[in-house]
Amino acid sequence: MTSALPEYSGPGLKVAGVNKTYPLNSGQHLLALSDINFELQKNQIGVLIGPSGCGKSTLLRLIAGLESLSQGEIQVAGKAISGPGVDRGMVFQDYSSFPWLTVEENVAFGPVHRGEALSLREGVVEHFIRAVKLAGFEKAYPHQLSGGMQQRVAIARSLVSNPGLLLMDEPFGALDPETRWQMQSLLLEVVKKERTTVLMVSHDIEEALYLADVVFFMGTRPGRILEVIHPNFERQSDSRDAILDVAEYRTLEKAIRQMMRAQSLACA
Ligand SMILES: Nc1ncnc2c1ncn2[C@@H]1O[C@H](COP(=O)(O)OP(=O)(O)O)[C@@H](O)[C@H]1O
Ligand SMILES: [Mg+2]
Repeated sequence: MTSALPEYSGPGLKVAGVNKTYPLNSGQHLLALSDINFELQKNQIGVLIGPSGCGKSTLLRLIAGLESLSQGEIQVAGKAISGPGVDRGMVFQDYSSFPWLTVEENVAFGPVHRGEALSLREGVVEHFIRAVKLAGFEKAYPHQLSGGMQQRVAIARSLVSNPGLLLMDEPFGALDPETRWQMQSLLLEVVKKERTTVLMVSHDIEEALYLADVVFFMGTRPGRILEVIHPNFERQSDSRDAILDVAEYRTLEKAIRQMMRAQSLACA
């Protein structure tokens, strides 16, 4: 008799005892990340926030498998990673679409590259182009799109491969405030619907509190996690402004602002 394996029910991401050192020209080493330990549950959005240089991008690159760990282990959906993989998608601040491909070719790139069936791919590509509200722009090239639209192409391109974990490094940092708000609402809508686990880097407190199920506040020298915060607001993507009036939001916003300031003073 065969029995189906039970569905994996552990965390979407587990980072345990991670250190990262870089060699310096002097022959010494820089401890960029020290003893990083955290978990992100499946279908949650985690936001890494902290002062510049505290190792946010380094941590994301380690989880993406783009750099090697000096110590520790990273598990995605219960499996230790040992390099890049299709279980993880990555979106960077600069719009990482291929300029010579159309929107639909960009979105289809991953599955095509892996030789997946055409029929399956077309339905999925259309689905995600619609999800990021780019229907009608399938044949456009990236240079014909605004910054926000180009970033939506990058998000659709990552989601189309159905990654268990979507990693985003300040994805909206280059956008104007209004576009950034729209993108945050869209991201919330899409990842909750697609049931994607997201780890995102931000240095914007408002963005972190609006998007995150859990905020990891990082400090510097060495880069480490100082606080884990679970904002507990009612979130509705169509009432973005309402959150600014919530007392708990304002308390957390102030606390994080003070932690940011303390970190900057410590580094001055
Ligand atoms: N490839 C590298 N070689 C040497 N040092 C690096 C490298 N990448 C990052 N660092 C150092 O690691 C620290 C963390 O950098 P980074 O992860 O980019 O910070 P953040 O994204 O939080 O601003 C910084 O001191 C940075 O100079
Ligand atoms: Mg960075």
